[in-house]
This record gives sequence, C-alpha cells and structure tokens, in this order.
Amino acid sequence: MPEAGPAPGMGAAAQPLCAAADLVERGKAVLFDVLLWGQPARAFALRFDGRLVAYINRCAHVPVEMDWQPGEFLDQDKRWIVCSIHGASYEPADGHCVGGPCLRSKLIRVTVAEQAGQACWYPSTDVRPVVTGVISAPESLP
Ligand code: FES
Repeated sequence: MPEAGPAPGMGAAAQPLCAAADLVERGKAVLFDVLLWGQPARAFALRFDGRLVAYINRCAHVPVEMDWQPGEFLDQDKRWIVCSIHGASYEPADGHCVGGPCLRSKLIRVTVAEQAGQACWYPSTDVRPVVTGVISAPESLP
C-alpha cells in the first residue's frame, strides 16, 4: 500500500486540527475527515512519545475504522494502536503492523506537525482536504 507522505510542490498548506496541547501523551486521538484517493475517509492524530503522529483510520487487514470508541485507538497499556475488529496491533511511531492479521502491512500515514501551539496536518498527493461546498449566487431571474 502506498505511503501517503507529503507531496513537494503540491501546495501542501497546513490544515489546522486543534490546539497541540489537546493531544496529550498517549491520550485520545483527534479525528478528522479527509479525501483518500478522492474518496471520503477518516483520519486520526495522537501524541506518542511526545511526537504527533497521524494515520488514516483504516485497518490494513480489512478496510474498516479501527477505534473501539471514537478517538480511542490505543490498547489498555497505551503501547500499541489496536484494531477493535480482529485485534491487529500497530506501532504508533510508524504505523507498521506488529501483530495480528495485518502482519507486514502498515497504516497510511498522514503528515502532521505542531507549530506555535497548533496541531496541523499536511495534504499529500493521496490525502487531500475535504472540499466544502461552494455556494454560488443564483443567476438573476428574468
Ligand atoms: S479489520 Fe482490523 S484486524 Fe481485521
């Protein structure tokens, strides 16, 4: 599966997520909507070992969302990202599967960073912002 890293020259403007302080160490993730290969998808960002990480909320085993409660991805020991469906375990730092039916696969990474107290994600060739509807002014009636 392709890695969804930043795409130089693709106008990867920072997309604000939340205050960086809202993402506490090994705490609840922030969920956000994106377009993955042009299709609606959900992504999540969390803090692990002090660093922000973000991935598409899609298991590498079966393409379903993984959280056992909205924004809850980590196991009881707060060590692994665990898929709530069949228990696949992923390394939070890099998204690689470390156990379960997803072995040798990985989560689709979303580039995320914190700047001036703000957590932001960065679009790539594969992961784009959701375009909100543009409401155009109606043509003037005759
Ligand atoms: S769907 Fe995630 S482990 Fe099977």
